[in-house]
Amino acid sequence: MCGIVGYVGHREAAPILINGLKRLEYRGYDSAGLATITGPKLHLRKKAGRVSHLAELVQEKPAPGVVGIAHTRWATHGPANDVNAHPHVGGENGNTIVVVHNGVIENYAPLKRRLVEEGVEFQSDTDTEVIAHLIAQHMQGDLMEAVQAVLPLLKGTYGLVVMSPTEPSLLVGARLGSPLVLGIGEDEIYLASDPSALAGWSNRVVYLQDRQMVAATASGWQVFDSTREMIAVDIHPLDLRAADAELNGFPHYMLKEIYEQPETVENAMRGRLSLDEATAHFGGLNLSPRQLRRASRLILTGCGTSYHAGLVGEYLIEEFARIPVEVEYASEFRYRNPPIDHDTIVLAITQSGETADTLAALRESKRKGHPTLAICNVVGSTIAREADGGVYLHAGPEIGVASTKAFTSQVTVLALLALHFGRMRNLSSMQGARMIDELQALPAMVRETLNCHEQVRRVAERFADYDNMLYLGRQYLYPVALEGALKIKEISYVHAEGYPAAEMKHGPIALVDEHTPSVFLISGGPIFDKVMSNLEEVRARGGPVIAVCGNGDDDIVAAVEDRADEVIVVPEVPDYLQPIVFAIPLQLLAYHVALLRGCDVDKPRNLAKSVTVE
Ligand code: G6P
Repeated sequence: MCGIVGYVGHREAAPILINGLKRLEYRGYDSAGLATITGPKLHLRKKAGRVSHLAELVQEKPAPGVVGIAHTRWATHGPANDVNAHPHVGGENGNTIVVVHNGVIENYAPLKRRLVEEGVEFQSDTDTEVIAHLIAQHMQGDLMEAVQAVLPLLKGTYGLVVMSPTEPSLLVGARLGSPLVLGIGEDEIYLASDPSALAGWSNRVVYLQDRQMVAATASGWQVFDSTREMIAVDIHPLDLRAADAELNGFPHYMLKEIYEQPETVENAMRGRLSLDEATAHFGGLNLSPRQLRRASRLILTGCGTSYHAGLVGEYLIEEFARIPVEVEYASEFRYRNPPIDHDTIVLAITQSGETADTLAALRESKRKGHPTLAICNVVGSTIAREADGGVYLHAGPEIGVASTKAFTSQVTVLALLALHFGRMRNLSSMQGARMIDELQALPAMVRETLNCHEQVRRVAERFADYDNMLYLGRQYLYPVALEGALKIKEISYVHAEGYPAAEMKHGPIALVDEHTPSVFLISGGPIFDKVMSNLEEVRARGGPVIAVCGNGDDDIVAAVEDRADEVIVVPEVPDYLQPIVFAIPLQLLAYHVALLRGCDVDKPRNLAKSVTVE
């Protein structure tokens, strides 16, 4: 979603700001803008569309100065046009205020009404503009003081950076519910909504906490609490190389990230498997063995792809640890008031660690006294910091909006957690050791799965023009069917539904005809025949069938090949690891269908990588 970059130092700000915005493009946005200051003069440039359009504008009409703020906007209040793009300006000569803002000001309407009654003229439809006018009203020469006076008037969420030609070498930042990070350089300071904007610029960062403010100049920075008491904060190392956020020869981030999966799955396990004890260890769970052993229930919560990983986690944890698990969309969980006993652990699953609904679900659980854990990719993110304990994925930055490597890493970590909990309860050391062997073989299986790429591309060519698809799987492959359908929806705008294969006859089969292909995810074992019957039911109604099937048994593969229009064969792995292997051809299918339909794979319309509003 929206992205923020701020710079104060000794170099020209505009190229740095544009470069930073480009690094935040992956979050999803629809317009961009920047402002710089030279002495009393403000240079404001805003443009609907891509950051490249803004860069062209700045080329035509340069924005000089060594201090500036910039923003990518994902429209919430008012359409995506030049005027609604940030920064927004309040006040007049002498007390001009410039603001970029992430989040939503929920009480902007009454605030705006009051300001209009007082004669303030608004330029845009945004909620953000009220902040600029309010600060301008309170500005009496001290920007920090004016910002501090306005923050208590705002209801909602904000990560914001403010500057003013009145104090031309100062940036003021503040956060409540929307992240802001300070990057420390050599006589220069950066502010950003996402540490990935700072890769290669700064390797020392401060993650601002809610209700903290920061004042930054080229020569120094200070963090304050809401009463403007100066506070000591931790400086964290930032271990991000600029190359991590580059394409490295791939045409799209999504494809690069699909291909990173052999390494990312391995990274999720690195140093965590102990053959001696036949279990998995985690450094940061921060719950005592007693608390873990007493857990009577786990609630897994998340959104989008992370929710689907949670559904796989339910199968894993119930099978291996015998702990009852419930999985719930964070957006629903946060507003429900289900009876939960005290020995229930709430586990938030999130790539970004910033998803607003998942964060709210976590906070609600903490408020009620439940131990909380997080499975998270982005180090230092809000959810990673607020959970009592957790596990990092170590998958590196995921830039493609459609999540790929984060999903397989989340499932890997959930398998490790199932092993860990299982070994504390009922799982024998023999069973634990066998799981470890299977997990250790997984990265090679993932690498081998990528060999299906060329075949998937051909399947995509055959089916790219179809507008509706069904994805069907059972047991461990049911959540993968949901994830496959989500992937193709997200990036190729094909309408797709995921279902448990047997549930198809209770409704979705009404959609089946020669224009609706079904993707069947097929594993051997006791339900093979049942899934094949479902496949026959689709064929009997003229529905084309794409089958993805494990390479375990020649007879099974032959039977599937006999009946399906296309068969993609993936390496044989134990059924609890199938979600990881089967997800890969579905990611590639979505990728190629999107390309063939002319869609922007990495920046699909209307979507955002990190959804920081409700
Ligand atoms: C957005 C993204 C999805 C992601 C979901 C949850 O919708 O587009 O790819 O799965 O948010 O994000 P999280 O960062 O919490 O995993």
